[in-house]
Amino acid sequence: MKQYGVNELRKMFLEFFQSKGHLAMKSFSLVPHNDKSLLLINSGMAPLKPYFTGAEIPPCKRVTTCQKCIRTGDIENVGKTARHGTFFEMLGNFSFGDYFKREAISWTWEFLTEVVGLDKDRLYPSVYLEDDEAFDIWNKEIGIPAERIFRFGKEDNFWEHGAGPCGPCSEVYYDRGEKYGCGKPGCTVGCDCDRYMEVWNDVFTQFENDGEGHYEELQQKNIDTGMGLERLAVVVQDVDSIFDVDTIKSLRDKVCEFAGVTYKTDENKDISIRLITDHIRSATFMISDGIMPSNEGRGYVLRRLIRRAARHGRLLGIPGKFLSELSATVIEGSKDGYPELEEKKDFIFKVLTQEEDKFNKTIDQGLSILAGMESKMEAAGEKTLAGTDAFTLYDTYGFPLDLTKEILEEKGYTIDEAGFHAAMEEQRKRRAAPGK
Ligand code: SER
Repeated sequence: MKQYGVNELRKMFLEFFQSKGHLAMKSFSLVPHNDKSLLLINSGMAPLKPYFTGAEIPPCKRVTTCQKCIRTGDIENVGKTARHGTFFEMLGNFSFGDYFKREAISWTWEFLTEVVGLDKDRLYPSVYLEDDEAFDIWNKEIGIPAERIFRFGKEDNFWEHGAGPCGPCSEVYYDRGEKYGCGKPGCTVGCDCDRYMEVWNDVFTQFENDGEGHYEELQQKNIDTGMGLERLAVVVQDVDSIFDVDTIKSLRDKVCEFAGVTYKTDENKDISIRLITDHIRSATFMISDGIMPSNEGRGYVLRRLIRRAARHGRLLGIPGKFLSELSATVIEGSKDGYPELEEKKDFIFKVLTQEEDKFNKTIDQGLSILAGMESKMEAAGEKTLAGTDAFTLYDTYGFPLDLTKEILEEKGYTIDEAGFHAAMEEQRKRRAAPGK
C-alpha cells in the first residue's frame, strides 16, 4: 500500500467526493454557531446540524469537509495512552435529503479500497443490530461475505452526541494484524485492543433527539459520514499511533528536540511528550478561531490545555518558554488544509507567549506551595487537600482546579472540590459587596 501523508489523504478525500458531486466547504470554526449544546465543535456534522434538520437550506445537497474537532471528554488520559488526543481532523461527506445508504456505503468502499488502496480482506463492516438494509447492501451489493459483517447494538452502532440529528450507523474496521492485537481468544472486530481499528463511520441520520431521549423521525433522510484523518493515516502509514503519523511525528520530534530527550526511552517522559504534542495542536487551532484563555467556558478549556502543556514542559526539563515556537511546527504541518493558521500566526504566538509568561511567573512558586501542602497532608495522614488551599493555588498562582487535581492524583491525593467552590463563591460575594 502506498504511504500517503496526512495532507495528501485530506486532499484525496475531498477530491474524491467532489468527483461525486459534493461541494467542498472549508472547515467551520471550532466555536459553535447558535448551538448551546456544545462548547466546541466535536465532529464533522456538528456545524451542519441545521442542514440535517431542514431548518436551513444548504448551499448544496451534497457537501464534503475536513473539519477541525476537539473532544476533551478523555483529557485525563491524553499522554497516558497513545490513543487519546483532544484535537483531530474529521473527514466527512454529507447528504441533506439527497442520497442515502446505498451510495454512502458504495463510496466508502470505493474510497478505502480503490483510492487509498486498503486491502479488501482486512476490512470489516459493522451495522446496527436491526439494520438489514445496510447489511444487505454490504453483503449483496458490495459482496462482503455475511460472516465478515458484524451486527452491534446501540452503544456501538447508533450515533448521537448531545441533542440533534442522529441515527443508526455502519462502521468499517481495518485489521492491522496480529502484531497490534491483544492475543486473547475471541479477539475480533469490536475488541478493545489496537488490532481492529475503526476507520470510517456512516451515520444514517434519520432522527432528531431532543436531548432528553425522545426521538422524532426527520422529514428528510441524511448521510453523515465521519473518518478521523489521523486514524486513517495510522492505518495507511502502518505506524503505532496517531503520535507517529507524519505531521504529528514532526511535532513530537520538536518537543523531544526542545527537551533533549528521545521518545520511547522512558514511559513518564513519553506521557509528557504526547500530552504537549496533542495540547499544542488544540491550543493553536483554538486561538486561530479567536478563543482566548480565560477562567470559564471555552477560554478555560484553552487555559487548561496551555497550562498543562507548560507544566509538562517543566517536567521534561524544557528551559524557558517553548509553546509559541512549538506552535510554529503545528502551523507548518497544517497550513495546507487551514490557511488561516498562517494568516494568524503572529496573533497565535502572542497569545501563547502571554499565557505562558503569566503562568511561568507563578508556576514555580505555586508548585513549591503545593509541595508544602502535600507534606502537611502526609504528616497528618490526610488524603484530601482543603478546598481553601486549592483556591489559594487558583487565585494567587493561576493553577486551574483541574491542574492541581491532576498533580495531586499522580500522588494519590484528592481535593475537597465543594470546599474549593465555596471559597470561590465567598470571594465573589466579598468582591460584589458594596464598597469593595
Ligand atoms: N458523526 C459521526 C462521527 O462523529 C460521523 O460523522 O463519528
